[in-house]
Amino acid sequence: VERHFAAGPLAGQRVLVTSGPTHEPIDPVRYIANRSSGAQGTAIAEALLRLGAEVIFVTGPADVAPPDGVALHRVETARQMLDAVQAALPVDAAVFAAAVADWRVREASDRKIKKQAGTLPALHFDENPDILATVAQMATGRPGLVVGFAAETNDVVENATAKRARKGCDWIVANDVRPETGIMGGAENAVTLITSEGAEAWPRMGKRAVAERLAERLAAALG
Ligand code: CTP
Ligand code: CA
Repeated sequence: VERHFAAGPLAGQRVLVTSGPTHEPIDPVRYIANRSSGAQGTAIAEALLRLGAEVIFVTGPADVAPPDGVALHRVETARQMLDAVQAALPVDAAVFAAAVADWRVREASDRKIKKQAGTLPALHFDENPDILATVAQMATGRPGLVVGFAAETNDVVENATAKRARKGCDWIVANDVRPETGIMGGAENAVTLITSEGAEAWPRMGKRAVAERLAERLAAALG
């Protein structure tokens, strides 16, 4: 896809998208991960491209292939994702769709951990940096619009509203990731958009439709 002469409401706008899970190593052959497929982040990047944006796409090891036409940065861990995000700034807007691992294994082993009769390994964790909060709270050079996601299993609107305030982002796209919704890893999403105006529940629709609606809102907000 040729991006240099893009037309559309987002032409000339640089937008960062994070996507996919992160993998946090335990040893060279094992890691901690989560069920994110990267489908929603990828669909958002595609929708932004269709509206003419220049898209910087920072992705963990996702199931879904990254879109053609983005500036692609592949990472494994949360700390690598933070570094890639910071290197991509400044941007006009940033959408943090990645399911970043909250914890990493303290002192991952550089050798494969072997079974030992009579003992079990114990993992200790450190908290990962919060990439969204770091960017949303930048004193200088903050993107004009910072959009986070909130994966919740209960009290979705309450939790996501608190998350928006705590992190300092402009919008939160909240979704219900209880296994019975089939959203995590599935084709559809049912989101509530939380802005300074309040909570707006969108009907359940395909992830591509969610992405298109979000990209249009973003274009309107960036004006
Ligand atoms: N996020 C991030 N860096 C992290 C953790 C989360 O950038 N280390 C971002 C996600 O990409 C998402 C938003 O923060 O846009 C919310 O992620 P979520 O996991 O729902 O929130 P947490 O603050 O990690 O809270 P919790 O998992 O305890 O609900
Ligand atoms: Ca989390």
